[in-house]
Amino acid sequence: MSTSNVRVAMIGAGTVGQPLARLLLDSNRVDMLVDAAAARIELVAICVRDGAKSRPGVPAQLIVTDSMATATRDDIDVLIEVAGGVEGTRELIEAALSRGTTVVTANKALMAAAGSELIALAHQHGADLYYEGAVAGGIPILRALRTSLAGERINRVMGIVNGTTNFILSKMSAEASDYGAVLAEAQALGYAESDPTADVEGFDAAAKVTILSSLAFGTALCGEVIHREGISRISAGDVAYAHRHSLVIKLLGIAERIGEHGISRRVHPVMLPMDHPLASVHGAFNAVFVEGASSGPLMWLGQGAGGEPTAAAVLGDVVAAARNRVTRRCDAPLSIDPSLQIFPLGELQSVFYLTVDVLDRPGVLATVAGVFGEHSVSIKSMEQSGFGDEARLTFLTHMVFESDISATLEDLAQLDVVDSVGSCIRVLEDDPS
Ligand SMILES: NC(=O)c1ccc[n+]([C@@H]2O[C@H](COP(=O)([O-])OP(=O)(O)OC[C@H]3O[C@@H](n4cnc5c(N)ncnc54)[C@H](OP(=O)(O)O)[C@@H]3O)[C@@H](O)[C@H]2O)c1
Repeated sequence: MSTSNVRVAMIGAGTVGQPLARLLLDSNRVDMLVDAAAARIELVAICVRDGAKSRPGVPAQLIVTDSMATATRDDIDVLIEVAGGVEGTRELIEAALSRGTTVVTANKALMAAAGSELIALAHQHGADLYYEGAVAGGIPILRALRTSLAGERINRVMGIVNGTTNFILSKMSAEASDYGAVLAEAQALGYAESDPTADVEGFDAAAKVTILSSLAFGTALCGEVIHREGISRISAGDVAYAHRHSLVIKLLGIAERIGEHGISRRVHPVMLPMDHPLASVHGAFNAVFVEGASSGPLMWLGQGAGGEPTAAAVLGDVVAAARNRVTRRCDAPLSIDPSLQIFPLGELQSVFYLTVDVLDRPGVLATVAGVFGEHSVSIKSMEQSGFGDEARLTFLTHMVFESDISATLEDLAQLDVVDSVGSCIRVLEDDPS
């Protein structure tokens, strides 16, 4: 039987695109790809902005520079978008899907903002839209949620889905260093951008949580803003406290079911017990921890970014896309559960770690404790350390409502005896097993 050809064009040949092009053109992989895809995958064009740039392993004759002409070629079955960007890139993807061309992308920002509309457009035109590379780089978590766990009731997905912040927190923990010094080192090593906001303030993780939630629970991909706190206020003192109490601080993206129809999605630092599976994920690694009603806890670990790992995940999508083209089928779109409602953040409960800098005077502790009491925040433990006229009070609460903690922090900040309210970090206490 003759092997079908599936013709593929790419937009982007940067960090992800270059290794991907090399994988698609690798003569040692041809048979493997033919086996996996039941088709010969033929790369016919690679669109970039700068056609003159040197790109090792990428044949110059495949390079083109007109992105819309590439996206709307009549002779391609699959368009791979690894250029990044939102608005202009959305137009390219819409143009391709409208012609029935399957699209493979690694674009988390675009998928989180407009994924539901794009998936519907793909289905309307008999095409697929795959985006495995958009979450946790080389970890094939989206396909696992979509297929392997398709019949499972998932209760919670928690992930370390940003390598930059995990690198910074791991180093702060290992070396007892301050955030600023470690960020500068991460920037020098290329682990953090010169403007690190998207990573350290949790925007990147929020887009990934939005995508994980859509697959785990059936929430829409339509640019909804989710609660987000970053790591830039975490101090060496917080890390040291965590260490002393057998805890470790991680920036987690969390999507969880609450009751029958409630859903909570958020990104914030969490102090995890050291024996939690996510606590041992260090450096730039990512991990996604899934709790299913029948499966129990599951975890995927791997390189959350980087050209080669992400290219491997994108290649898996290209193979799946090629198989569907050959068999003339396309995947059913993700269903959206209209009964789901956002659970109010204030009604969530957690244990909290808090620090408050106060004047070191008699009676101050009673005043501060009074504010906790007024808001029904019960204190499990308190530590005091003094410096000069001031003292730092460090509290660990019992399980309390988020709204009560917010009200406590607001009132504490108003007290004359309080110099500043410092850290406020949630502590995960439940047992994952
Ligand atoms: N890097 C990672 O580790 C990683 C991991 C997961 C997902 N992703 C996602 O993968 C995508 C690509 O990331 P990247 O790191 O590979 O980006 P990158 O290194 O900046 O490369 C972008 C590529 O796209 C080309 N490009 C950009 N705009 C274009 C346009 N309008 N027309 C034609 N070509 C255009 C650039 O051309 P020139 O080379 O000529 O400038 C470059 O080759 C993004 O959506 C990103 O979020 C990246």
